[in-house]
Amino acid sequence: MVTTKEISTSLSASVDWKKVREDFPILKREVNGKPLVYLDNAASSQKPKQVIDAIVHYYSHYNANVHRGVHTLSQEGTHAFEASRLLVKEFINASKTEEVIFTKGTTGAINLLAYSWGRKYIQEGDEILISQLEHHSNIVPWQMLCEGKKATLKIVPINEKGELIWDKFLQLLSDKTKLISVAHISNALGPVNPVKNIIQEAHQRNILVHIDGAQAAPHQKIDVQDMDCDFYTFSGHKMCGPTGIGILYGKEKWLEEMPPFEGGGEMIKTVSFEKTIYNDLPFKFEAGTPHIEGAIVLGDAIKYLTGIGLENISKREHELLHLATKELNSLDGIRLIGTAAEKSSVLSFLVGDIHPFDMGTILDKMGVAVRTGHHCCQPLMAWFDIPGTVRASFSFYNNENDIDRLIEAVKKAIKMLS
Ligand code: ALA
Repeated sequence: MVTTKEISTSLSASVDWKKVREDFPILKREVNGKPLVYLDNAASSQKPKQVIDAIVHYYSHYNANVHRGVHTLSQEGTHAFEASRLLVKEFINASKTEEVIFTKGTTGAINLLAYSWGRKYIQEGDEILISQLEHHSNIVPWQMLCEGKKATLKIVPINEKGELIWDKFLQLLSDKTKLISVAHISNALGPVNPVKNIIQEAHQRNILVHIDGAQAAPHQKIDVQDMDCDFYTFSGHKMCGPTGIGILYGKEKWLEEMPPFEGGGEMIKTVSFEKTIYNDLPFKFEAGTPHIEGAIVLGDAIKYLTGIGLENISKREHELLHLATKELNSLDGIRLIGTAAEKSSVLSFLVGDIHPFDMGTILDKMGVAVRTGHHCCQPLMAWFDIPGTVRASFSFYNNENDIDRLIEAVKKAIKMLS
């Protein structure tokens, strides 16, 4: 009998990864006289030529405003815009396109949620549960809401590996808890949270769950119906798409009940000075001229990723993460931050007492791009009592040579800085 692991291995092996890498023109450039090794994919992914061409095609052929014109360009633009919404719906297996809201990004989507859902449903004394791992985007909007409403933000603690402590999570749930908002995958350290179990426990207590999927959507198959989350958010720019575009997925019943976030064009049915009637979903949450190019080309990014296959992508990135972890761990003085049993595509580390910024600067001189610092997760860094980390984050278009170059550069940096 063929096991799932064997199927997955053969799937990954069936992709010509060398050919895939050729799709990314930027990977051919040099930085500081060295071929670029791009390992800052968690901050933003690179774009394949299919996506770059789609941007040029949009502006060269049917640039016009959407949902507003009878003329051909506007009709074509509207068609492409809504076709992309359908692609997003299929990408995350939402049940309806009405559940897919275009936003500026994950941050924009979480702010929409906190402002609209939060202002309606959170009352004095209520509790919102987040975790120690969260990105500032999944902390600050809830802090702002709690401050305004006299509600309380509670924090699920983590262990030394960067995993949520399950018993503590359960202990924090109470009849005051109205929402749990956690990352699917930590952008700073890479642990994959047990979101399905979290959602099951929450729903048994009538608590809603938002999953911040910014770091997950580019790396694994997302199925919001299977997960049963109430809300899911993610960004285009981390998944080979343009910047300035993201998605708020919400179950239709919740989105229907939520008031609009911003007022203006597109989110209205009729306006008079006496009363404005709001538009239906999804337009109720899409005030003003949207990021048309971004939304359309996000569809091209989805086509590109699904063409390779999310299962293949996931498998390949795990191979790279595994290899890089092994190689890095073999160096003296390395401290990996985030060693969860289930991890995805992020390798955060420190070397002795070398400051991450110094390490990052020297790596850049050798053409290796990593992110250094707190990764927009200051409370997480404070928990580990560190100023930040050096973070190498992988994408399917990276390869074994990139890892060799990273290790070689880290070795040189250690020699120079020790
Ligand atoms: N959230 C992005 C990162 O992890 C910017 O780097």
